[in-house]
Amino acid sequence: MADWQRTHTCGELRDTHIGETVTLNGWVNTYRGYNNQVFVDLRDRYGLTQVVFESDAPELSQLANSLGREYVLSVTGKVRARLPGKDNPKLVTGKIEVQAEKARVLNACPTPPIEITEFGNELANEDIRLQYRYLDLRRKTLQDTLIMRHKLCKTIRDYLDQREFLEIETPLLGKSTPEGARDYLVPSRLYHGEWYALPQSPQLYKQLLMVAGYDKYFQIARCLRDEDTRADRQPEFTQLDLEMSFVEMDDIFKVIEGLSVAIFEKCLGIALPTPFQRMSYAEAMLKYGSDKPDLRFGMEIVDISALAANSEAKFFQEIVAAGGVVRGLNVKGAAAKFSNSELKPKGKIVEFANRYGSKGLSYVKVEADKITGGLEKFFTPEAQKELLTAFNAEPGDLLLIVADKEAVVCDALGALRGHLASLLKLFDPKTFNILWIVDFPSFMRDEEENRWVALHHPFTSPRDEDLAHMESDPGKVQAKAYDLVMNGYEVGGGSIRIHSPEVQSRVFSMLGMPEEDAKARFGFLLDALKFGAPPHGGIAFGLDRWAMMLAGTTNIRDVIAFPKNAKARDVMTGAPALVDKKQLSDLGIK
Ligand code: AMO
Repeated sequence: MADWQRTHTCGELRDTHIGETVTLNGWVNTYRGYNNQVFVDLRDRYGLTQVVFESDAPELSQLANSLGREYVLSVTGKVRARLPGKDNPKLVTGKIEVQAEKARVLNACPTPPIEITEFGNELANEDIRLQYRYLDLRRKTLQDTLIMRHKLCKTIRDYLDQREFLEIETPLLGKSTPEGARDYLVPSRLYHGEWYALPQSPQLYKQLLMVAGYDKYFQIARCLRDEDTRADRQPEFTQLDLEMSFVEMDDIFKVIEGLSVAIFEKCLGIALPTPFQRMSYAEAMLKYGSDKPDLRFGMEIVDISALAANSEAKFFQEIVAAGGVVRGLNVKGAAAKFSNSELKPKGKIVEFANRYGSKGLSYVKVEADKITGGLEKFFTPEAQKELLTAFNAEPGDLLLIVADKEAVVCDALGALRGHLASLLKLFDPKTFNILWIVDFPSFMRDEEENRWVALHHPFTSPRDEDLAHMESDPGKVQAKAYDLVMNGYEVGGGSIRIHSPEVQSRVFSMLGMPEEDAKARFGFLLDALKFGAPPHGGIAFGLDRWAMMLAGTTNIRDVIAFPKNAKARDVMTGAPALVDKKQLSDLGIK
């Protein structure tokens, strides 16, 4: 070992080490000069240790005075107790300090462009922090998060290994698997004009592994989807991908609930109650306007379509007559919390709802003996009473009502419900709510393209009892599909798959894919299903979203070492970037 190399980390020394001579390596977190001493807090990922340089060693003192923040330092010295009253109870090393006897600057550092304290998080703009990500990653919060993410992966691997799952890798260069997003394409140098697609998920490979007899598979897999980024979405993200043979839904739920319990226990020390609640897709949409409802608070959506259709309000009558719905939220006790201008057209609340497609929002403030807002004149006193009963409203409550096509009403009220709950602090952000959403429809109508599309993906099995009317009444077919939802985020999704080649062909054709197309795109799957495919099913966790939940952040970039920014750029390396003409010509691209 060279004489500058560490004997201990910066988080390791305690009062039991007093009297020992040690060497520490780390970064200068802070330095302060007092009287004849310079105090340096030396930092590594394990912690901070206070080092004292005293002036009776002039050479050392000179070195200490030349230090700057983030210099890389080796210090050898004696561990001693801090002076009485100078302990720092916030640090695990807070009872001791190292009196420097020898020091060496291993590397200097210019003034860092961002603060590396926690404070820095507030100060520097995110793009600057991403540009200097290697500096930002020195921050304790990010280090704790990445350590927690490591624990998350380790818990997953241990848990599944103990249950005879095999971790098997699948290709990155492959053929497109439709998960509903655009593919990232990679041009082939050997076959000009032909392209690989980067996987949106390992979906088809894991099904092929089932056909191959690897009945319990998992993989911590990178997935790539060229879609617009969001706070909980990255173009490149990670899934825990899992598949099992000879199973029904309940078998998968059991594995996943057990795994979730292990994750919460190992990562947060929290005992998660099981079994998880199950809610149908229809109930989630009706009561929460979302297939990923946050159940940490109530504020359920109330349907008042019948009441509204009987009111004097023409716009309500017309919308209901055209097949739309009228629904609303009772924001308990909030009548005084929002001014009328916030609730009127162009007001903050209305603008928020309108971002989700609604064309307006009606409000009612409930007072002791009357209601106010735009609606009271359209409701007879009798109807007003019915309205209040429907919303279980009391004086002081605020009712927010949206009328439109059902999908728009769900979107707008679902989003508003979450927004208002955060605004009014209706839940404890440190609590967790987890549930399964089940009974999804298999197919949804894409009005723009005028065709049916798969709600999950086209390999999801319809319920056996619905197969008979798949072609005649696709809208009524339910899927053997499920999503796992935590605190309003979709943290996993999966299904029992189709294992019959005939059913798979019928689904492709339902989705408007002629037989020839289906063969060209998915011939390998249809073939494989013919060669003894076992019944099988699985799920994928959004690993980054799990890490977000565990770390208590709403920004996915906080849990990824080197994320893309909100505009899908890697601002540190500069990707995407132009490439050489020669590279393009090799690929046959002009
Ligand atoms: P799905 O498309 O629902 O299913 O993806 C599974 C989970 O992955 C997470 N996720 C994302 N996380 C971050 N950024 C993204 N862009 C992103 N997209 C999805 C979500 C989601 O629940 N092959 C199927 C799974 C299966 O059927 O087994 C699939 O990929 O948490």
